[in-house]
Amino acid sequence: MSAAHIFAGIGASHVPAIGAALDLGKASEPYWAPLFAGFAPTREWIAREKPDALILVYNDHASAFSLEVIPTFALGCAAEFAPADEGWGPRKVPVVKGDPALAWHLAEALILDEFDMTIVNKMDVDHGLTVPLSLLFGQVDAWPCTVVPLAVNVIQYPPPTGKRCYALGKAIRRAVASFPEARKIAIVGTGGLSHQLQGPRAGLINRDWDARFLDGLTADPEALSRIPHLDYVREAGSEGIEMVMWLIMRGALEEQVDELYRFYHVPASSTAVGHIVLVNRAGSP
Ligand code: DHB
Ligand code: FE
Repeated sequence: MSAAHIFAGIGASHVPAIGAALDLGKASEPYWAPLFAGFAPTREWIAREKPDALILVYNDHASAFSLEVIPTFALGCAAEFAPADEGWGPRKVPVVKGDPALAWHLAEALILDEFDMTIVNKMDVDHGLTVPLSLLFGQVDAWPCTVVPLAVNVIQYPPPTGKRCYALGKAIRRAVASFPEARKIAIVGTGGLSHQLQGPRAGLINRDWDARFLDGLTADPEALSRIPHLDYVREAGSEGIEMVMWLIMRGALEEQVDELYRFYHVPASSTAVGHIVLVNRAGSP
């Protein structure tokens, strides 16, 4: 095992209302309590595992980027990232500490491996990134590890294919293996699961599709990587395409993984909240 290694992959939705519920002290209200209880085992697990760094795959929701500039894959290489103002002031959560040495190594290794990453040296991070941090670590004075943000365009057509995302995950695994410094890393895929925020099908949730997707992440991610965009839109709703980001997370793990934990909850605002924790199978290189 190289000095730097990815030991686990975490999938989590990033619904903004979850952040608002925490920040406004509503986490123990009946609507929200089951959701936060569902993440408690992961909070305890990650507090024990103490990763040094997260590679956090998320999408920016027109906070740092806009229709003026739309990078397909953007790697945050800065020393810190401030919580974005999404229209009602920035969340009062700690500034996100970056990991410039790791991030620049990833940029170099991935670009030389023919994944044309956009390098970002200044970027605010929105609910796509900060809500999963809150779910993993709760309300803290400082986040307990560094974070390399990897922003994926799933907002403006055309987003990358699931196949490309899965391949990028594999390239991230190779890139981490060649980083000379010690880091215990977890990779986080965020967004989803099925949800549609707009139009006549607003509120769409597809439990069967979500369950099959979570099953496939462990057992047959290759098959998931072949799902075309139109299937996501039809089956998981107009915003369900966020789920391709979970394939980056899965690609960065070994072929054989064990599912440590899964949680599925409906609703949080109008979204199905999904969560999974995967670890490389014992004995995997
Ligand atoms: C909502 C926004 C998101 O970005 C998301 O992934 C899920 C839900 C929302 O506004 O409810
Ligand atoms: Fe989103």
